[in-house]
Amino acid sequence: MFTFDPYSPAIDADPFPFYKTLRDEYPCFWSKEADMWILSRYDDISRALGDWQTYSSAKGNLMTELPNRAGATLGTTDPPRHDRLRGLIQKAFMKRNLEALADPIREIAAAAAAPLAGEKQFDFIEDFSSKFTVRVLFAALGLPMGDERTVRDKAVLMVQTDPKTRAKGPEHIAASDWMRDYAAGVIAERRANPQNDLISHFSTAEIDGDRLDEREVLLTTTTLIMAGIESLGGFMSMFALNMADYADARAACVKDPELLADAIEESLRFNTSAQRFRRCVTKDTELHGQTMKAGDFVCLAYGSGNRDERKYENPDVYDISRKPRGHLGFGGSVHACLGTAIARMSVKIAMEEFHKVVPNYSRVQQQLPWMPSSTFRSPMALELARTN
Ligand code: HEM
Repeated sequence: MFTFDPYSPAIDADPFPFYKTLRDEYPCFWSKEADMWILSRYDDISRALGDWQTYSSAKGNLMTELPNRAGATLGTTDPPRHDRLRGLIQKAFMKRNLEALADPIREIAAAAAAPLAGEKQFDFIEDFSSKFTVRVLFAALGLPMGDERTVRDKAVLMVQTDPKTRAKGPEHIAASDWMRDYAAGVIAERRANPQNDLISHFSTAEIDGDRLDEREVLLTTTTLIMAGIESLGGFMSMFALNMADYADARAACVKDPELLADAIEESLRFNTSAQRFRRCVTKDTELHGQTMKAGDFVCLAYGSGNRDERKYENPDVYDISRKPRGHLGFGGSVHACLGTAIARMSVKIAMEEFHKVVPNYSRVQQQLPWMPSSTFRSPMALELARTN
């Protein structure tokens, strides 16, 4: 009998055959293991994203939610509360002027890539991308340098789940508590001494006299740290994996770095790190002959919608000339990722600098150590070897 267990190592390793069966045979599937419905076709996911009144985020959007997030952050509220939060935070993003970060991001990327010059083999994550992503996020948010390693380790733990209990374990909850205390300290410091950084801007952002309250500032800060470091880092490893596996695509990007922008979009479709997010149906809802009851949780499997043959021709082919319009790599509609601009810019600059130092490479491990997470998919280590 077909099962779909998003906590299983088999799905961490290769969810795509499972997704195909879901799309073709069980497009609205009740997963006993996940205790929720799974929507896997592009059109159904897209429609659900647009219909936030029925598919609510207010009970949490991570497949396994962290304590205290539901109903309180951008990703875990519905309009109108969500629009208010998003408006205030977007104002802070505009004030920070992300374009002005391009030069500092390039410096961070070049410094992270330089030590690889003499290396024949290295771990892309440990030796390059984790250093890069954490420093970029620290610069954008205005976090004090020195704590990068600990903050990254905690952010990674926050997105993991225990595959045995299918829940957050004590170490994941402890990481989340640590991050809350850490963020509270930084916010207090920024309030006393505001700078040109996101935390200073959104803790003071105002629209028609309305401001974020204490709890909102705190949860927004922890969300941005977690989303920023882990989503950006996870996607960078998936992108590097595609570049390692598809040598022609990589060679084209090394020759003409402008092609990296198209390759990034194709990887967001083909292999997004943000595989599955959750919603909760607010009323009984019929789909493909099934009835989702009010209060049931529903998984929107973005990674599957992105491989739906009803939407994309030859979806299992990695083709950097595809320009995949409407892919779900950043979700969509009211909850579309707020970090798209900084994510696209950061990955492109990072890979330009990385390719200057390491233009030719292949992966060393055939079996990758996948992170245990029901929401995200990315390897915990990615050994690359120079090929000439
Ligand atoms: C390539 C890297 C990234 C990927 C693949 C990614 C993916 C996503 C996805 C799929 C969602 C939608 C979640 C849902 O449907 O419930 C989302 C939301 C969000 N992302 Fe990202 N993200 C990335 C980088 C970032 C960065 C760098 C930041 C912050 C600096 C960020 C901040 C956010 C926020 C705040 C939301 C919630 C938006 C809302 O609900 O209105 N993301 N992201």
